[in-house]
Amino acid sequence: MTAFPLPPGSTIGILGGGQLGRMLAMAAARLGFDCVILTPEIDSPASRVAAHTLVAAYDDRGALAELARRSQVITFEFENVPAAVVAELSRLGAEVAPPTRALAVSQDRLEEKSFLNSAGIGTVGFARVDSEADLKAAFQRFGPPLLLKTRQGGYDGKGQIWVEKADQSAAAFDALGRRPCIAETPAAFKREVAVIAARGRDGEIALYPLTESHHENGILRRTSAPAQGTPKLFADAEKIAATLLSALGYVGVLGLELFDLNDGRLLVNEFAPRVHNTGHWTLDGCEVDQFEQHIRAVAGWPLGPTAAHHHVEMTNLLGDEALTWAKLAREPETRIWLYGKRAPQPGRKMGHVNRLSPLQDGRG
Ligand SMILES: Nc1ncnc2c1ncn2[C@@H]1O[C@H](COP(=O)(O)OP(=O)(O)O)[C@@H](O)[C@H]1O
Ligand SMILES: [Mg+2]
Repeated sequence: MTAFPLPPGSTIGILGGGQLGRMLAMAAARLGFDCVILTPEIDSPASRVAAHTLVAAYDDRGALAELARRSQVITFEFENVPAAVVAELSRLGAEVAPPTRALAVSQDRLEEKSFLNSAGIGTVGFARVDSEADLKAAFQRFGPPLLLKTRQGGYDGKGQIWVEKADQSAAAFDALGRRPCIAETPAAFKREVAVIAARGRDGEIALYPLTESHHENGILRRTSAPAQGTPKLFADAEKIAATLLSALGYVGVLGLELFDLNDGRLLVNEFAPRVHNTGHWTLDGCEVDQFEQHIRAVAGWPLGPTAAHHHVEMTNLLGDEALTWAKLAREPETRIWLYGKRAPQPGRKMGHVNRLSPLQDGRG
């Protein structure tokens, strides 16, 4: 049994070797922890800053045993960890955070929205779609248009398609490979916002200031934070985040994507049981950033203060944009984060920049 709080010198296991794992490992190192990364990728962004790496498939039993043996606690930098992997880690007696329930729920858009509604949290209307007939029935119920999404495995807008009319049901379902889907009603949003939320092992909750997020082609392009808003909006966002964290018995940082609707309501789009791209601004804008906060939470440390000390415009560097680093380096109020990825494929998240400006009236 692991005793918490974990003392410095302990080892934290991370499943996944991407940029989120890299920034988690950097934060962990600052607190005196070592990280061991499990990733199938040789030379991954995270492995180049972590103390140890196991290069193996996520379901490699030998590698999982080694990870469990070396780590006092194991966490994740992505949510699509196969259920069998989580089960194996539990069988090995490993301490895992966030809780596996949060992973399971967030892996499946239908489970996720059902869970949110059962916790009293509003979402768009949705229907389960396992066939063309189900999609036609959803059109009968909600009317057009509908957004058809695969229940599992989608990210950065992949695995989803707008369907304008019921008679396009067969073609749309075919286009998504006839996989189990969910049909969603359109959210009439004036903007998208996000909350980075943390819960400690003792149930303490800490929320970051609301973030405005802008997507292009389904990919997060930039964020602006702290976001402007009414006291009611802030209160609603905080209530939703706290309700969700408690309902999941959560430990760690969670990213919550919301629709700020034209009619004033706030609906949850989805959540990710991990540090999140909409929280990258906290690296340079807040007292304790989301990566350190996650490490603190899973290690059983007290949570750190989340207040903003600067307004931040975060912009993702996609593909070749990362090649402009020399120009960016000349901007005095710009902080550069590069992920060490070798190949700048189009649309690939290669890094991000945080552009700082003074806070106005405490809320950006
Ligand atoms: N029901 C919806 N109505 C309107 N826009 C949506 C809806 N669902 C998703 N979107 C848009 O598509 C983006 C990506 O969808 P999301 O469900 O967050 O998938 P992903 O897992 O790819 O991030 C959202 O950020 C939003 O801009
Ligand atoms: Mg999303």
